[in-house]
Amino acid sequence: MDILFVTSEIYPLIKTGGLGDVAHGLPLALRRHGLGVQVVLPAYRDALARAGEVRAVARFTVTACGREYAVTIRAGELAAGVGLLLVDIPPLFDRPGNPYLDADGNDWWDNGERFGVFAMAAARLALGEGAVARADVVHCNDWQSALVPALLQQYCADAARRPPSVFTIHNLSYGGHFPYELFAALGLPSAWWHFSKMEFYGAFSMLKGGIVFADHVTTVSPGYVEEICREPGGFGLHSILSQRRAAGTLSGILNGIDTSVWNPARDPHLPYRYSVKRGRVAQKRRNKQQLLRQLGSGVAEDAPLLGFVGRLVEQKGIDLLLEILPALFDSSTANVVVVGCGMRQFERQLQALARAYPGRLLLYIGYREELAHLVEGGCDIFLMPSRFEPCGLNQMYSLAYGTPPVVHATGGLKDTVVDTTTATLADGSATGFVFAPFTATALRDAIERALALYARPRRWQQVQKNGMQCDFSWENSARPYIELYRRLRREHHEAIRSGRHD
Ligand code: ADP
Ligand code: GLC
Repeated sequence: MDILFVTSEIYPLIKTGGLGDVAHGLPLALRRHGLGVQVVLPAYRDALARAGEVRAVARFTVTACGREYAVTIRAGELAAGVGLLLVDIPPLFDRPGNPYLDADGNDWWDNGERFGVFAMAAARLALGEGAVARADVVHCNDWQSALVPALLQQYCADAARRPPSVFTIHNLSYGGHFPYELFAALGLPSAWWHFSKMEFYGAFSMLKGGIVFADHVTTVSPGYVEEICREPGGFGLHSILSQRRAAGTLSGILNGIDTSVWNPARDPHLPYRYSVKRGRVAQKRRNKQQLLRQLGSGVAEDAPLLGFVGRLVEQKGIDLLLEILPALFDSSTANVVVVGCGMRQFERQLQALARAYPGRLLLYIGYREELAHLVEGGCDIFLMPSRFEPCGLNQMYSLAYGTPPVVHATGGLKDTVVDTTTATLADGSATGFVFAPFTATALRDAIERALALYARPRRWQQVQKNGMQCDFSWENSARPYIELYRRLRREHHEAIRSGRHD
């Protein structure tokens, strides 16, 4: 079975968050399970530069927004046997830096056109254009490739020739919303300008297109399915998502972690490696010294070190963290490391706090992959107070790295972290500290519980060990995707045989 996996980012070529990790880990795991996989990605300037050897394998044109775009497909290899197809359209993607934002941190003015045209090229590849892509199932991700399932229908009236599609929602809060003019300029059928299709409160929603037209919709944790089927988590799409769930065509599949990249026993970014069996306590301490040195701090190594890594946006609960940090510093010896970038307002507030608490709040504003690994390997406690979290990978990394996380009881965080209580300590299931409701007081209480347990090394080490023994690898999480692909193929063939297809 051949899967065409369409994504707007992928580690290690270009990454802004978890989608980049998933787009690497899942295809590699699918390949290890014996599937054929080709990943389709826009040929951003940096991605093309990092892609290694690529060769032009197909050329065609896409007409949109009054222009004829010349498309070159450049093929390479992402990793052992996983194909990479870069959609090279220089006027749209030959730009430096972040895939979605310009140098000032604003959305590129033509993002709708960029990803609309990308989706058009990907759909044409899926239907055999250029004869370079094989697709028994097309798997699309987030709004940037959400138009593909609909475009497959637009381009190919013969249902038998159309591969079934899966659309995965990694984050419902990014809708890919644009004015009607873009919908028209992309040449989409006028019948689709309807609230049951792509129209969303007067705007054109690419995300909604994916939800409506894909044969099956998934999201990245079972917990998040519950949240998006009601408000406020549904961001206005809860009823259509509930309908799909009732029809059995929306399901939650928990993300996995890529143990070839995130594994403390083999992590090249860790100066001192360790495993649950070897060197956990001593090596983590050495990593902590290294981390503190790198951040130029003279803080006490004995004091507990709490870490946060992530996009500095409202979703991540950074406002709650800002609210509790002064009291935490005043009332304990704990120090905090924050690695992140995003909304200027949060960056500035963190910088002000770091000035007010020199040496206590250690800040790195920016994106640095290797520092993220060192935070996981060197901190004692990980902080993830997300307002909502579709899945979250960092809490799973922190479990694997023996850095028990403090998390809000939401989405994938709730699905992956077991709160420490007398009962869960006794039965060996405790892995972290879970708080609710989403308030500063509840976060403070959870951090205090974590610090109290940290002061009792034997119990603390048991919680670390419980987390490190969890298996969140993609090996497991790839299986439900494979079952889903197989079922869709089966239903597709049955529908064709019985003439049920449109
Ligand atoms: P999201 O996808 O919402 O950003 P996840 O927890 O799923 O959240 O994934 C975030 C990924 O991005 C992790 O691999 C994390 O280490 C990485 N990341 C986020 N911000 C930074 C940063 N500033 N520097 C390095 N890595 C980062
Ligand atoms: C999104 C979500 C995050 C998830 C990631 C990968 O960015 O915010 O929770 O882990 O996608 O699916």
